[in-house]
Amino acid sequence: MLQQFREENRDLLVNIGGTIVHRDDAGVSPFDSLVQNGDGVWEGLRVYDGKIFRLGEHLERLRRSAEALSYEGIPPADEIVEEIRRTLAANRMRDNVHIRLTLSRGRKCTSGLDPRLNTSGTMLIVLAEHKPPVYDKSGIRLITARHRRPPDDVLDQKIHSCNQLTSILAKLEANAAGADDALMLDSRGFVAETNATHVFLVRDGLVLTPSTVACPEGITRGAVLALCREHGIGFEVRDIAPDEVYAADEMFCTGTMGEIVPVVEVDGRAIGSGERGPLTDRLCELFAALTATEGVPVV
Ligand SMILES: Cc1ncc(COP(=O)(O)O)c(C=O)c1O
Repeated sequence: MLQQFREENRDLLVNIGGTIVHRDDAGVSPFDSLVQNGDGVWEGLRVYDGKIFRLGEHLERLRRSAEALSYEGIPPADEIVEEIRRTLAANRMRDNVHIRLTLSRGRKCTSGLDPRLNTSGTMLIVLAEHKPPVYDKSGIRLITARHRRPPDDVLDQKIHSCNQLTSILAKLEANAAGADDALMLDSRGFVAETNATHVFLVRDGLVLTPSTVACPEGITRGAVLALCREHGIGFEVRDIAPDEVYAADEMFCTGTMGEIVPVVEVDGRAIGSGERGPLTDRLCELFAALTATEGVPVV
């Protein structure tokens, strides 16, 4: 699954620190912490018919990540929402839009690592693109990566940071193997998530998902678990050994970028029938009903 350039995004207007500029003219200072240290936090948001799904939860996760890194001058939620509105209005966007919202620790007064060099406060980037869900809804293929997700005493994955090198190393493995994405284990050898999404298995009608010891608290993941609770679909959150993946009847992954996507093969082995499964279909329908009705209007 390789995303393609979309012609409708050729003249995007991007919001960099409150200034709206054409994508070709957008720039970030070489003194910015994003450039210097990959020191930023981010959220992926999705706009459905003028409304952002679970906007409050995304902004809360952004704030928690920024606080965990001791950022100074974190903008309040209403200011961030206003910048999102301005960006969507400038681009006349309302549906099938993905927003990459990035908060940098900001500019340093000279190059270096020490956060005390950051004397200008944080910097917000709103990048909105025309981007329908990116994965093939008929199903994707994974390989299990050699690279693992770090434990919280190495780099807490609850901090949703712009440092994505562990995931990129795993994605390179997937690319080399001709797979769509990589399944990543935690440092104990249990399933964590893919390089970009949370994972779920279905076994004997029961939905299983790993705990989030080595991945972010997913907003789509949370919505799926709530749907299971609400509709009487049995589920368990627990450690999952890699071999349980091969024995699953169905598998799917979740994330804002691609919503709910079936996984039909892992390490060359078919999962279940090797096609989209019935419980995955049901959860996709329930999730679509949720995104069609819920959300915070921003257009
Ligand atoms: C590493 C990782 N896993 C999973 C997800 C999916 O999370 P969500 O459902 O909140 O989009 C993301 C999305 O940002 C992510 O970065």
